[in-house]
Amino acid sequence: MSEIILTGVRPTGPLHIGHLSGALQANVDIQNTGKYDKMYGMIADAQGLTDNFDNPAKIHDNVLQVALDMLAIGYDPTRTTMFLQSAVAELTELTFYYMNLVTVARLQRNPTVKTEISQKEKFNTGIPVGFMTYPISQAADITAFNANVIPVGNDQLPMIEQTVEIVHKFNSIYGQTLVTPRAIIPTSGVAARLPGTDGNAKMSKSLGNCIYLKDSSDEIAAKVKTMFTDPNHIRVEDPGNTTENPVFMYLSVFAKPEHFAAFMPEYANYTELATHYERGGLGDVKVKRFLNAVLQETLRPIRERREMFERDPGAVMEILKNGTIDARNVAADTVKRVKTAMKLNFFD
Ligand code: TRP
Repeated sequence: MSEIILTGVRPTGPLHIGHLSGALQANVDIQNTGKYDKMYGMIADAQGLTDNFDNPAKIHDNVLQVALDMLAIGYDPTRTTMFLQSAVAELTELTFYYMNLVTVARLQRNPTVKTEISQKEKFNTGIPVGFMTYPISQAADITAFNANVIPVGNDQLPMIEQTVEIVHKFNSIYGQTLVTPRAIIPTSGVAARLPGTDGNAKMSKSLGNCIYLKDSSDEIAAKVKTMFTDPNHIRVEDPGNTTENPVFMYLSVFAKPEHFAAFMPEYANYTELATHYERGGLGDVKVKRFLNAVLQETLRPIRERREMFERDPGAVMEILKNGTIDARNVAADTVKRVKTAMKLNFFD
């Protein structure tokens, strides 16, 4: 079966280890299998503006940062079409037509949009239409490229669900035109977002609780040292909680058997370590030292690749530019088919 994969990320800040565990590493793993017909890596700058319309510099500056992060973790422009959402005008055109197929009530029910609204103070006085309708533009992102496989974290499932509804409605009214996508959830990491270093459920730049892919070795060490753990685990002998403990949540995602062999040979794997902590008798300092070693090993090669690409930002922008030309061609073809289906092909 033909597989076309689309991945997307908003450039609202440098990428952190939560992105890595969420979908990014899985995307690169898929890319490297080569078992698909085409893969796209979209930087969703236009979507990023839907809740940052008042801060254009933020989105602008983070486009290059996110492109660097993507290249650093192994996005390979010879295999994956990396492109910029705002430079594909066809996406807004599709969005406008799809808006007819979605009710206001349906948008209001989207659980991810609901959560985001409740978390954003600046929406207290009103919700911009652009933000409210971003799930529709996401359907345009997906269908424009005939993508049928979308690797996402859990929080993005409602978007794919809504895209499927739009596709079915479009095809049933205007005739078979659009491809139905399905979400795949990465199995390597946690599908849900990693908590922040402070224990907050969300890792976010504004909370200052992120470990970034570009962090220096010293920054990683300092952040791990001050991480929140189980507040009731006071003495080493005390039984500890591993489930709401970010140190253990990070370890459960990033600690591989080779890390145990190299840095903590007393334990064969995560389960053994976690069981000991829960039983009591394992101190936080020791566990944090291990987490630091694991993160240093995981992030060092990423940081080194990033530094290599950082030396030539012009070349990185050139990669995006070339990818965007390719993406536009495909999206233009979809718009043509969509308009024909909708009987809007007057000048063909
Ligand atoms: N909403 C996604 C995020 O917040 C980014 C995104 C935009 C996306 N368009 C997409 C993801 C299409 C997958 C497919 O990270």
